[in-house]
Amino acid sequence: MFESIQPAPADPILGLTEAFKADPNPQKINLGVGVYQDSTGKTPALSCVRKAGELLARSDAGSSYLPIPGLAEYTSAVQQLAFGSAHEVVTSGRAFSAQTPGGTGALRVVGDFLAANMPGTTLWVTDPTWANHANIFSAAGVSLAKFPYFDKANNSLALADMLDALQKIPAGDAVLLHGCCHNPTGVDPTQEQWEKIADVLYAQQLLPVLDFAYQGFGDGIDEDAVGLRTVARQGEEFILCSSFSKNFGLYNQRVGAATFVATDAERANVVGSQVKRAIRANYSNPPAHGARLVAAVLGDDDLRSEWHTELTAMRNRINGMRSLLVDKLAEKSVPGDYSFIKAQRGMFSFSGLTKEQVLALRERHAIYIVDSGRINVAGITESNVDRLTEAIADVVGG
Ligand code: LMR
Repeated sequence: MFESIQPAPADPILGLTEAFKADPNPQKINLGVGVYQDSTGKTPALSCVRKAGELLARSDAGSSYLPIPGLAEYTSAVQQLAFGSAHEVVTSGRAFSAQTPGGTGALRVVGDFLAANMPGTTLWVTDPTWANHANIFSAAGVSLAKFPYFDKANNSLALADMLDALQKIPAGDAVLLHGCCHNPTGVDPTQEQWEKIADVLYAQQLLPVLDFAYQGFGDGIDEDAVGLRTVARQGEEFILCSSFSKNFGLYNQRVGAATFVATDAERANVVGSQVKRAIRANYSNPPAHGARLVAAVLGDDDLRSEWHTELTAMRNRINGMRSLLVDKLAEKSVPGDYSFIKAQRGMFSFSGLTKEQVLALRERHAIYIVDSGRINVAGITESNVDRLTEAIADVVGG
């Protein structure tokens, strides 16, 4: 039966981790997958999360199934964190949130929801976007199209081209934007630009879908929510996909959420019934532990403030490494001006390295970065930055 099955290509991001693990070079560097590493190259559990885990271990939360949309205290905390607790979206009850297995799970729930309830909807994604977006939505049977986002020549947002393209999208289609820390480019709209984008989206009757996986990694928790809070206009519908992999360091717990914001609470209930149906047919109901951890941290003043401190430390380390990378590239006289990397936001640097240069880095130097030239800045340390920049000098110089 299986003789005719052809091997699938390796995943462009997670496949790199496999290749990295298999590489015997002791000096290898993994700057592929977006996982935070500290200055020693480790991905430790956050202290606030460890403390929450101890609290949970002392209580008996039970082992029965969670409801289909997950833990209510978690989904309510998700909404408050994203919008702010006094926001109309939260207080009106017009948002339905479901806990999902990671941000990927949230996106897939959205894909299944669109395919079942809004068939024929095309999902428009930024060019470029996270490599897994196309996989997720194609697997759900949603067709995809791209719109311009990144101005390669100036390493900036291609706002005019983007607005022009959005104006041509047929009413009823969905548009996937990154809430902050655009993956892979690290280029986000300003609040003013978000206003313009939201104007076009709603004038064209498009459904915004915001992928929000890096809250707190750009400029701060509230600062990074400016985009989605700008899109969250009175009476308008949109979808938000949240992930706590990065900002809580809960990569392997798969903690995410899909929030469907409807025109009113009654509509939100109807939409929620279809979301539950999509979830039941997929993974039935979500796993409990990671969401309990997030709810415990966000529900306790001390743990929450410790989380803010730890998140700030992660953000500051990444930004410090961003500057160090740019300085070292200049110091080593690597051809080209890389100063734009300092303005990028989030975990990644869209370096401008070509695919050939990326492959040469891998083959000649055992340095693993994504084919698009995306570097996980969080994987840079004071101990590997010299080797990294010397290797970049080697591949860029020929
Ligand atoms: C990434 O872009 O590296 C992360 O979102 C991890 C992943 O699953 O690809």
